[in-house]
Amino acid sequence: MTDPSRRGLLGAGLALAPLAASAGESAPVSPAGGGGLELPPSGEGVAADDGAYWSRIAGLYDVSREVIQLENGNWGVMPRPVAAANARYLDSVNRRSSFYGRREYVADWTRVRAKAAASLGVSPDEIALTRGATEALQALIGGYNRLRPGDGVLFADLDYDSMQWAMGWLKARRGVDVLSIALPEPATRQGLIDAYAAALEAHPAVRLILVTHVSHRTGLVLPVAEIVALARARGVDAIVDSAHAWGQLDFRLPDLGADFVGLNGHKWIGAPIGVGVLYVRQGRLDAIDPFMGSQEFHEDTVLSRTHSGTMSYATVLAFGDAIDLHERITAGAKRRRLRYLRDRWAEAVRGHGRIEVLTPADPALTSALTSFRLKGQGSPQQNRALAKALLDRFNIFTVARDGVAAGSCVRVTPALFTTEAEVDQLVQALKVLGA
Ligand SMILES: Cc1ncc(COP(=O)(O)O)c(C=O)c1O
Repeated sequence: MTDPSRRGLLGAGLALAPLAASAGESAPVSPAGGGGLELPPSGEGVAADDGAYWSRIAGLYDVSREVIQLENGNWGVMPRPVAAANARYLDSVNRRSSFYGRREYVADWTRVRAKAAASLGVSPDEIALTRGATEALQALIGGYNRLRPGDGVLFADLDYDSMQWAMGWLKARRGVDVLSIALPEPATRQGLIDAYAAALEAHPAVRLILVTHVSHRTGLVLPVAEIVALARARGVDAIVDSAHAWGQLDFRLPDLGADFVGLNGHKWIGAPIGVGVLYVRQGRLDAIDPFMGSQEFHEDTVLSRTHSGTMSYATVLAFGDAIDLHERITAGAKRRRLRYLRDRWAEAVRGHGRIEVLTPADPALTSALTSFRLKGQGSPQQNRALAKALLDRFNIFTVARDGVAAGSCVRVTPALFTTEAEVDQLVQALKVLGA
């Protein structure tokens, strides 16, 4: 597929100017990573406990230390080079306004889109930039046009609330039956695959499933490729919610075998809030309708499957810098480091006193996010109180999560700037609270 024939804002008559500054102007944008700070050396092959490397990476983050911040699943702090680039872009775009927007932005946007596609291992023609995973996934769920009245759609308890709601809304929109399953706890790789297989076996009318790559409730990593494959073997499509996966797991989109995926740039890639990616595999575009009749782009391009209106130009530009930094550290090194920090607390307290760690030790099923609860204490109130006790008594910030079929929990999420000492303080606190 060639580049989109855009009918709207970026359309006719636009010169795709290079990144040159106009006379008398500071450059509106600069080569990625040019936030005025030195980028770190590559993380290729760096061990998870390489203190020198990881304290250098932690130093890239200008974070408040007023609290031990272990709630990094909400969104990701921008590293300094990205924050600096973002500030520069904001300033410059604001000053140059449409003179930049109408003449130069499309070239920069094209470059950022290509970077995102390369990082995901797909063609730029298969992705659109969105304002986040929500926008991407709602467009996919709402636009999926293969459903007929009487068909079924299926989601799981660990899926994200607004994606569950969107699947539920398909009842009114498409006349389908909406089914939900509870994923096994404790989970095993095979147990998860079996849960989807059994559900599809029991409900042969199901034609579409939602699969969440990394659960925001417990941090469980699902064997997405296997689940997508077993669904496909039954003629069932899968929409994959990878909001939390890109930037903390080491994968490329083709590894998942999925046709429809929504991802976030502002969680683990470290872009400013307000950017994500919608992916439709080449050849599957006809299963998703153009977004609400949008005519901005021709219907043969994935760009027509979402319509964001005017996005923050600076955010899109800084997304490029964030991807560059992510690639510099490497997905593999980030994955190793985050797993190491996660294991350092979760495996240290597993089974201690009343503590139940909800995700298994199996590295294939764990992410930076991991939840726990105290035995027999699964109410939302009990878990809010537990998170409050961690904050009030130990100055450790976490978050309570509801919606897990087996009961509410408290979620702990370290980031690349989290220190081992902070994780050890959590272990001490949990040993007190969970005794
Ligand atoms: C699993 C999952 N899906 C989707 C989203 C939505 O992401 P956003 O609000 O950034 O669009 C989130 C956000 O936390 C999430 O955790």
